[in-house]
Amino acid sequence: MITVTRIGKHLGAEISGVDLSQPLDDNTFAQVAAAFFDNEVVYFRNQSLTPAQQIAFTRRFGVLEAHVRKESRLGGHDEIFVLSNKLDANGKAIGAQDAGRFWHSDLSYKREPSMLSALYSVEIPVKDGIALGNTYFASTTAAFNALPDTMKQRLEHMRNVHSYREYRLKNYAGQQEDERRGIRTVQEHAPTPEQLASVPDTEMNVVRVHPVTQRKCLFINEGHTSHLTGMSRAESVAELAKLYAHMTQPEFIYGHSWRPGDLLMWDNIAVQHKATFDYDPLPRLMYRTTVRGPAVI
Ligand code: SIN
Repeated sequence: MITVTRIGKHLGAEISGVDLSQPLDDNTFAQVAAAFFDNEVVYFRNQSLTPAQQIAFTRRFGVLEAHVRKESRLGGHDEIFVLSNKLDANGKAIGAQDAGRFWHSDLSYKREPSMLSALYSVEIPVKDGIALGNTYFASTTAAFNALPDTMKQRLEHMRNVHSYREYRLKNYAGQQEDERRGIRTVQEHAPTPEQLASVPDTEMNVVRVHPVTQRKCLFINEGHTSHLTGMSRAESVAELAKLYAHMTQPEFIYGHSWRPGDLLMWDNIAVQHKATFDYDPLPRLMYRTTVRGPAVI
């Protein structure tokens, strides 16, 4: 029997009574899946997972993605994307350090954007007894519901473009700015032409109906949306800024303070997330798996 304890106002719940290192029977898995889609973000404390066990659990939800950044995949386990500021013996980054600089949902620039991500905390930075490197999640369903009806109707007719190319350029500019401010960065410096070519821009509706919950979600994000279609770039920038300000109001947010052994899952259709970078050079090591979602229209 699992226990689900709601934490945030609109999203976020702790699930206890589950050992994810063991295969879940169908009934328990169905309860976990229902709690996940209902709460949009769920976490399990005190797990002890090998990469193979994390893969086996998340694969129950669907097909796993291998990230376009091949250099940040875990050796021998392509489905695990390593997030870390740690360096190997040659001074090479062992993972992507920069993931989550902007509000985004994972792989939203793909024709089949990710349905969910699962992040397992292996090593968490702690300073003066306080865990650093929190992750924040904003409910795009709650944000949509809170809009006036006239705005909802307007947005339902709008389209936006998600662009991995523009995102990488923006991220690179952010990294340059960090370096100017003396903040150590260990990420790759530029995506390869091959990586960029493998993820062409994708145009999709601003409002998506969640395929499981049937809730309406805002599918635009600060990281990957390059622009709204049918208007000038300047108009698009102004319109998006207002929407982002609305979506990231404190009432729509759950902030997670990590402990080693947390397995936290978020719904990439119903929430956006953002990392914090307040810990370097204290080491942080996380393993992420992402499950492919249905094609966008
Ligand atoms: C991400 O998946 O965007 C990174 C989240 C984090 O490292 O806190």
